[in-house]
Amino acid sequence: MTPIVVARREEAEIALAREIVALVQERHRVVIGLATGSTPVGVYRELARLRVQEDVDFGAVETFNLDEYLDLPSDHLQTFARWTREHFHAPLRISSERAHFIEAGIDGYEQLIQDAGGIDLQILGIGRNGHIAFNEPGSTRESRTREVELHPWTREDAAAAFGGLATVPHRAITMGVATILEARRLRVLAFGSRKAEIMKRVLEDAIGPEVPATFLREHRDLVLWLDREAAPKA
Ligand code: F6R
Repeated sequence: MTPIVVARREEAEIALAREIVALVQERHRVVIGLATGSTPVGVYRELARLRVQEDVDFGAVETFNLDEYLDLPSDHLQTFARWTREHFHAPLRISSERAHFIEAGIDGYEQLIQDAGGIDLQILGIGRNGHIAFNEPGSTRESRTREVELHPWTREDAAAAFGGLATVPHRAITMGVATILEARRLRVLAFGSRKAEIMKRVLEDAIGPEVPATFLREHRDLVLWLDREAAPKA
């Protein structure tokens, strides 16, 4: 896996947004897996800009969110469902019946993905501890959609958004590593110096559960973009 290192994150955001638009224009009906958080936000912004400026029709796009906190009221400001509605579905005019959210008690999430024909393109960020979605260290290659305990670093990183660590949930629901690896294309982004240490391990450590993002290296159609700050130093 040779990463594409860009001088500015916008270059990666534009490249990925362009790829998604090309897919949508070619096939119309495209299934996209959505990450949340600070990493993909520029891609979603660029897609919204392209919808208006180039009159792209995202109306037949179907989406599956990667993960969600548990133990939050459904109208809580920090739910990923709410976040993606605001940053992705509303600006791209994607109707609610095409937006699938992972939540407590849905056993059929994997079946829903299969019924939709599988995920064409999965967008991913990487946690400081090497997690993908909420597959924290220890998650196996075979793991599937399930409830998990959040790692202390994951909770710490979410603390600012929740106004303090005490109110960050301890549990979440996430697609598994195996679920993610079934997507036809994986498109991964990591930006900023706080990701540099883990990106070195993602690229160089032995593939295994200690750094779940190393499993991405087994995928046939993966593109990883890093900005200079996140790229391991030679
Ligand atoms: C979010 C998700 C997480 C984040 C990761 C990086 O849906 O699945 O794995 O992608 O924690 O978060 P940011 O982008 O905020 O640095």
